[in-house]
Amino acid sequence: MSYIIGLRNFLLKVVYRVARPIIFLMDPEAAHYRFKRVGVLLGSNAFTKALTSLFFNYEHKSLNITVDGVKYRNPVGLSAGFDKDGELTSIYPSIGFGLAELGSFTGEVCPGNPGKRLFRMPKSKSILVWYGLNNQGAEKISARLKDVDFGSLRVGINAAKSNLTPEFNLQESIEDYTKTMDCFKDIGDYYTINISCPNTQDGEPFVNPEYLNALLTAVNEHRVEGRPIYVKLAADMELSEVDAIVDACVEHGMDGVVLTNLAKPKYNEEYVKEELPFHKGAMSGLPLNRISTSLFVMSIVAQEES
Ligand SMILES: Cc1cc2nc3c(=O)[nH]c(=O)nc-3n(C[C@H](O)[C@H](O)[C@H](O)COP(=O)(O)O)c2cc1C
Repeated sequence: MSYIIGLRNFLLKVVYRVARPIIFLMDPEAAHYRFKRVGVLLGSNAFTKALTSLFFNYEHKSLNITVDGVKYRNPVGLSAGFDKDGELTSIYPSIGFGLAELGSFTGEVCPGNPGKRLFRMPKSKSILVWYGLNNQGAEKISARLKDVDFGSLRVGINAAKSNLTPEFNLQESIEDYTKTMDCFKDIGDYYTINISCPNTQDGEPFVNPEYLNALLTAVNEHRVEGRPIYVKLAADMELSEVDAIVDACVEHGMDGVVLTNLAKPKYNEEYVKEELPFHKGAMSGLPLNRISTSLFVMSIVAQEES
C-alpha cells in the first residue's frame, strides 16, 4: 500500500512541476481565487470529493493526535490566510488535512488593502503578502458556517481586528475580537487570536503589554468551554518581547501560541534583496522558516526546563 501511495505522490509532484510555470503566468491573487473556486467545486458533491481523496488523502491511525482535548485525525493543518472566508471546509478532508485554520475573520466586513497585494519571490522561495485581512466579516461567515458539518476536519477560528482605520482605539479593538469569538461560539474547535498581522494600518498594538493584558482578559470572558485559545505571534520580535507576550499568555491561561505570522523584509536577511517587489507587506516561506522553527525549538526547551 505504501508503495502505491509513494508512486501516487511522486506523480503528483511531476504534475505540479509541469503545472507550476503555467500557474505562474497568472497574477498571484487571481491564481489564489481561481484555485479556491476549484476547491469549492470539488467539495460540492460526494463524487468529486471521493475522486480528490483518491489523489491526495492519506489515513493512518498512527497519525491520530489529541491536543488540548481536541482530537485530530492527523497533525497536518492549513494555516490561516488561504481560506479567508471559510469557503472550503468540505474539501479539506479529501485533500488530507486534519485541521484548517479559517480566517483571519474580523468583527466588521474588511475589504483589505487596495491595489496589487500578492507578489511571488521565486528565488527567495517566498511570497510577499499585502492583503490586509480582507474577509466578509464574522457575522456573514458564521451565518453561512453555522449548520455545516465539518466531519473529520478540525477547524480553527482565527480572529483578527478589522483593518479599517489607522486610528487605534483599545476598547473598540477588543470588542472587534470578541465579536468574532461570539459569532463563532458554536462553530469550530479552537480559537486563534491573531495579534500579529503585519499588514494593518494601525500596526501591531497588542505587542504593548498593557493592551495585551486588556485583550486577553476580555478574550477569557468570551471563552467557550472545551475550546482552546491560542495567540498568534509575529516573526520579527526581540526575544524580550516574545518573553513578555508568552508570560502574559501563561498568566491569562491561554492554551498555547501559534508560531509565527509573516516576516517583514526590513527585519529579515533571509531573502534575495533584489527580488523584493514592493515596499510594503511581509513574507511567508523560506525567509520565515528558520525564525519560526527556532522559536518553536526554544518553546520546547523552555517547556522541558519548567
Ligand atoms: C497569502 C497569505 C495570507 C495570509 N493571511 C493570514 C491571515 O489572514 N491571518 C493570519 O493569522 N495569518 C495569515 N498568513 C500567515 C500564515 O498563516 C502563516 O502564519 C505564514 O504564512 C507562515 O507560514 P509559511 O511560511 O508556511 O507560509 C497568511 C499567509 C499568506 C501566505
